[in-house]
Amino acid sequence: MKNLVVFASGSGSNFQSIIDAISDEKLDANIVGFISNKESAFAVERAKKNNIPVFIISPSAFDKEKEYSSLILEKLKSWNAQVLILAGYVKKIPGEVISTFKNNILNIHPSLLPKYGGKGFYGLKVHEAVIENKEIETGCTVHIVTEEYDKGPILGQSIVEVLPTDTPDSLAKKVLEKEHELFPLVIKKHLQTQN
Ligand code: GRF
Repeated sequence: MKNLVVFASGSGSNFQSIIDAISDEKLDANIVGFISNKESAFAVERAKKNNIPVFIISPSAFDKEKEYSSLILEKLKSWNAQVLILAGYVKKIPGEVISTFKNNILNIHPSLLPKYGGKGFYGLKVHEAVIENKEIETGCTVHIVTEEYDKGPILGQSIVEVLPTDTPDSLAKKVLEKEHELFPLVIKKHLQTQN
């Protein structure tokens, strides 16, 4: 069974969907730790409620990226982490961490990448752009994290139809529901390729 560490900065509903998939025996994995840059994030509450060890660390507290990444790597090593899951984590993962966990960092993004990815495309901004451009479909993507933001190999996508009546908020809700189904499934598939 693989050891996962989840990173999140917000509500952590995707984090919850992974916790639930494990407890429902749909996903065979251990969550050995949780990392956030934000102590007040609701995701932190979810970790505590599920007795998952929490580590709070923010890059802004460090002058040198090296010090920041060393602390993260030290913590990941102490947890014996094997796969990192970014579930709404807003900070950049340091290059040293990406190379240490090469091909084993998964991120979920609320669009059909490569569309609406990269700098500036986060949260409602993604859905606003989708509506502005009169797209007829959108969705979510799980991909491998590489040094290039939102550009790593795509592991899975789910499509959501965009209706003329949709607003950025309604799209966000529909896409998030799909994310909760997609992420645990893609993680499962990825772990199967790792044996
Ligand atoms: C999701 O929309 C995800 O695609 C993006 O951040 C959001 C996190 O939502 N990367 P939640 O905290 O899991 O509810």
